[in-house]
Amino acid sequence: MDSVTDAKPEAGLYREAMSRLASAVHVVTTQGGDGRAGFTATAVVSVSDAPPTLLVCLNRRIRSAAAFRASGVFAVNTLRGEHEPVAQAFGGRLALSGEERFGVGDWHEGRLGVPCLAGALASFECRLVEMRTIATHDVLVGRVEAIALGHEGPGLIYVGRGFRVL
Ligand SMILES: Cc1cc2nc3c(=O)[nH]c(=O)nc-3n(C[C@H](O)[C@H](O)[C@H](O)COP(=O)(O)O)c2cc1C
Repeated sequence: MDSVTDAKPEAGLYREAMSRLASAVHVVTTQGGDGRAGFTATAVVSVSDAPPTLLVCLNRRIRSAAAFRASGVFAVNTLRGEHEPVAQAFGGRLALSGEERFGVGDWHEGRLGVPCLAGALASFECRLVEMRTIATHDVLVGRVEAIALGHEGPGLIYVGRGFRVL
């Protein structure tokens, strides 16, 4: 696409523009009343380091959205370069159910009782301290109560609608 300017952009142009942003890839998980749940996410942002706080944007149409709202705890697992199969399993395109997704990757229970990925670059276990619905998404604000730091190494990146390793 050549240069396009639109003062009132529609969703397609917005998505195309956003596809140019390179983002780290995470799997956000929780433990709900119906068992474990998780989804692949790039919309994860640090808010503050005092106290450690981050936010996640969760599409309200995701089947496990209610579990995330109800459980009050979640984990952000930041994926390593070799974790593309994990990102695919939790990305919704393979039609795997909640628990089936955890068959990909090595998962264990973290300190807050939420699923943490062994070998992740980092796992941030959070308590939900605020939630706001904006348009199609719930913005979950999490206070980070535990961190598991993996060894340094290349991360999984999503850009131009594809995965890269950086
Ligand atoms: C690379 C990638 C990034 C994604 N980022 C987000 C995100 O930040 N927030 C979100 O709500 N969904 C995101 N998704 C889509 C969800 O992972 C997907 O809708 C969800 O797994 C569907 O779950 P369900 O089939 O149980 O409804 C992303 C998917 C991929 C492949």
